[in-house]
Amino acid sequence: MKNNFDSRRRSFLKSLLALGTIITSEWLLPSYVHSSCNLTPRESSGPFYPSTYPLDQDNDLTYVKDKSKKAKGEIIHITGIVKNEQCEPVSNATIEIWQACATGRYNHPRDRNPAKLDPNFQYWGKAITSEQGKYRFKTIKPGSYPASFFWTRPPHIHFTVRSPKHSELTTQMYFSGEPLNDKDRLLQGHSKKEQEKFVVTFDQREQKQFGEFNLILKG
Ligand SMILES: [Fe+2]
Repeated sequence: MKNNFDSRRRSFLKSLLALGTIITSEWLLPSYVHSSCNLTPRESSGPFYPSTYPLDQDNDLTYVKDKSKKAKGEIIHITGIVKNEQCEPVSNATIEIWQACATGRYNHPRDRNPAKLDPNFQYWGKAITSEQGKYRFKTIKPGSYPASFFWTRPPHIHFTVRSPKHSELTTQMYFSGEPLNDKDRLLQGHSKKEQEKFVVTFDQREQKQFGEFNLILKG
């Protein structure tokens, strides 16, 4: 009888110990492991993904090769972190962006917009995320442009993110406070909750405009 009691007590203590181990190791996990990140909504790449890449292929789109010849328009800085659905940072992801220049013109043969091209604007850029999943771009705020007679697209920047262990993400980043946002067929095709994920507010810091755009990948 006593043996039976001892063995039950031993197995109870073992379970308690196992539970303690689980709880302690949970406490020791980084905070992001407990949270979950909602995926960045997807959008089409549109018709103006570059047919040729610019001479300069870095993350500063405000000039092409010759730093003394600057692109026209308002300079903006976009920073962010690429994460997975568990909110863990994704390092070594490749981020491409492409966009219109300040006049709303893409450097693409299919763009029929008569607005002027900017020879000093890079139009396309690339960044690789750091160990912490961070990236940054320096670019100019794109102009709006006519998608059709009845539809003017608000300023936006196209993004594609690639990482070997995750699904490729193509999306667009918008600017908060733009009146055209409310009428945009693509943006308004998303719920308000989804829109919050890619409509970015820019703030002035040290006389520079900064916006934070985090990208959440599937997988
Ligand atoms: Fe576009």
